[in-house]
Amino acid sequence: MDRLDTRFADCLHYATHRRSTGQPFEPVICNTTIYSLPGEPQGQYQYARWANPTWTALEEALGVLEDAETLIFPSGMAAVAAVLYGRLRPGDRLLLPSDGYYTVRTAAEKFLAPMGVQVRTCPTAAVEREPLEGLALVWVETPSNPGLDLADLRAVAQRARAAGALLVVDNTTMTPLGQRPLDLGADVVVSSDTKAVNGHSDTLFGHVSSRNAEVMSAARDWRRIFGAIPGAFETWLVQRGLETLEVRFDRMCSNALLLAERLERHPKIRAVCYPGLASHPAHALARNQMRRFGSLIGITLANAAAAERFIEACRYVRPATSFGGVHSSAERRARWGEAVAEGYVRFSVGCEPPPALWEDVQRALEAVPG
Ligand SMILES: Cc1ncc(COP(=O)(O)O)c(C=O)c1O
Repeated sequence: MDRLDTRFADCLHYATHRRSTGQPFEPVICNTTIYSLPGEPQGQYQYARWANPTWTALEEALGVLEDAETLIFPSGMAAVAAVLYGRLRPGDRLLLPSDGYYTVRTAAEKFLAPMGVQVRTCPTAAVEREPLEGLALVWVETPSNPGLDLADLRAVAQRARAAGALLVVDNTTMTPLGQRPLDLGADVVVSSDTKAVNGHSDTLFGHVSSRNAEVMSAARDWRRIFGAIPGAFETWLVQRGLETLEVRFDRMCSNALLLAERLERHPKIRAVCYPGLASHPAHALARNQMRRFGSLIGITLANAAAAERFIEACRYVRPATSFGGVHSSAERRARWGEAVAEGYVRFSVGCEPPPALWEDVQRALEAVPG
């Protein structure tokens, strides 16, 4: 039997035991740029680009959940930048997924390559066989966004360590509740908390977690020096979102599994890609390394028009380009020029009551021709 996992309960209550009579139960939104600082500078709070009590509260809570030191950022990409710029130097070699979140590749091409970083890409499903020797940093996103392919994190972590490369995992699609890259051997986790961690589609946010003090010190310096810092109010919103992550993610993943199983048998759907289905090419790996199968489903309809018609006909699945929120949303990813079928829809399954959601999806599919 699995050891009792108390990390989320510990995260929820990480500070409640420290509150004395009359103290606010929830973290306070601290809007200040300066702190009282007489004499020689001392203490944690000296200038607000360097530290803020509202950040500290969220970093401690996320740190309990990740079981690692955590730094927060004003977006997922700001977190990505802190790791890449904090770590890489001219001449270093970087391996990125060719099928992961495309802005990370764009950032590497536009900014890192001109500074002398050698950038190589490989598909997520092939990273296990990719030579890693000579690399400074290996970047993995599993399941990849939008194709939902998997990489074996234990195997890649072992090979990266043997090659002397740092393994960074973008865990945005899974959250710390669905997958624990650091426990599987990764060095660093990056997350866009704009997605499920905040979950209410009202704040851009991100975090970096690692048990490697050197990596964290570089990312902290990057944030402190260049000022890629979150606002106190946004931080508080994410703290509030985090408190319901477990119940939201539970509903989202169970809704996604239910829809994936039913859509797989639907005559209007050509293919369903979901790590929780036995038909997924890496289903055995998914069972082994993921705690849940996630809230994203890839569905392929006959063509672009059929996919657009389906999205348009849904009442509870809205057209939008993000995922992980309480509202179901969907989009045709080929509209961004990504290498997926024209009729491929990335479906982000939300928290709607399952019978209403399934009835809506079924009804929308009736509107799709042929
Ligand atoms: C997997 C992944 N990583 C990182 C990001 C970037 O996050 P943000 O939009 O919060 O900057 C995204 C955004 O969609 C993403 O999907």
